[in-house]
Amino acid sequence: MTESQLTAGIQPVVRTCPFSPPEEYRALREQDPITEVTLPDGIPGWLVTRYAEVRALLSDTRFSSRRRGISGGVDRALDELPEAAPGWFIMMDPPDHTRLRRLLTGHFTVRRTRELAPAVERIVTDHLDAMAAQGGPIDLVQAFALPIPSLVICELLGVPYADREEFQHNSATLLRIDTTVEETRRAQREMNELITRLAAEKRARPTGDILSALAQSGELTDQELAGVGVLLLAAGHETTANMIALSTLCLLRNPEQLARFRAEPDQADGVVEELLRYLSVIQFGVRRTASEDIELGGRLIPKGSTVVAHLPAANRDPEHFTGDPETLDLLRLHQPHLAFGFGIHQCLGQQLARLEMQVALTALFRRFPGLRLAAPVADIPMRDEMIVYGVHELPVTW
Ligand code: HEM
Repeated sequence: MTESQLTAGIQPVVRTCPFSPPEEYRALREQDPITEVTLPDGIPGWLVTRYAEVRALLSDTRFSSRRRGISGGVDRALDELPEAAPGWFIMMDPPDHTRLRRLLTGHFTVRRTRELAPAVERIVTDHLDAMAAQGGPIDLVQAFALPIPSLVICELLGVPYADREEFQHNSATLLRIDTTVEETRRAQREMNELITRLAAEKRARPTGDILSALAQSGELTDQELAGVGVLLLAAGHETTANMIALSTLCLLRNPEQLARFRAEPDQADGVVEELLRYLSVIQFGVRRTASEDIELGGRLIPKGSTVVAHLPAANRDPEHFTGDPETLDLLRLHQPHLAFGFGIHQCLGQQLARLEMQVALTALFRRFPGLRLAAPVADIPMRDEMIVYGVHELPVTW
């Protein structure tokens, strides 16, 4: 194993290649796939890096997604974290999780997502038109990658055009890294107020969207409804935006692969699967807490332990993927990856994310055949310190 943070018992976070997890994960996966480390936020935890064990961990509901009171006094820091906000079912266990997720699954099926394709195409085209009118160089994150998922969520929730500017402004505030606590609170409050007001309107006059359906169901409090709206924004926004921007950078840095993508645009679904696997943007992993002593892959994980499913490492496990999983191969035969997690919390919006990526990447490279970086690659600020990896900015021209 390399001389590194790992030898000091700290989860490795320093990358040598912008598209690959830190090199130490390869050795970890082979030699110590369930290991005790100090996590980047300073708390002790277990790091799981092999595909089979990550799947086992995420399938076992004794590993809780709750953040509060879960350690039963074993880890005071964990026990004192604030409880999940109302509606935030990503941080809940059954039966609370089941009750809320069940109300949404019908809105995220393959069929329902396909119905959104014309709206996604329109939003993408509008942004490409605006880029063409403005001319390069521009920051692709602000001009393209970020607004697309935000507007798609507006479409899905049924946020009317008149309210979209406010919605987008607040969602951008919540996602900026330099936002102050005061600004964050204000944006959250305004977002909650907007969704609560819209829900009241839709309760009276439903408009065939998710907010209308949830408001009409009578199964959610106003607070839960606002929470679900903000969760969908938070979970679906940064992830998809970073996948679009990082995929663009990755394709620009791999011209042979980009040429394959351009030559076979009807393979966009396979291309997106490979980018999801290869880039695995949830970089520090998905967390759980052991609700009792649990045996995982031959190790005993004590009650109260924090356990991290390291998706980027699992998604490069040669025991699961044929061919060389360390290389990007856009025409790779698809094998199921874990970029969207696994088990009961597996990404609710995965079909939507796939659709957004397929439409955005295909249209971007078709519209601007000469697309290229407008800054040296070493100057591009990477999101090394963020839970969702990617680029802070991507200066491009054409
Ligand atoms: C490429 C983009 C995306 C990636 C990589 C991604 C990844 C993930 C992962 C790994 C999880 C599992 C978390 C866990 O097990 O604790 C998850 C859950 C979730 N995602 Fe996504 N996601 C993406 C896009 C979206 C979109 C577009 C939406 C919706 C609009 C969305 C909504 C959700 C929700 C609501 C959950 C929680 C599900 C639950 O707890 O049952 N995601 N996502």
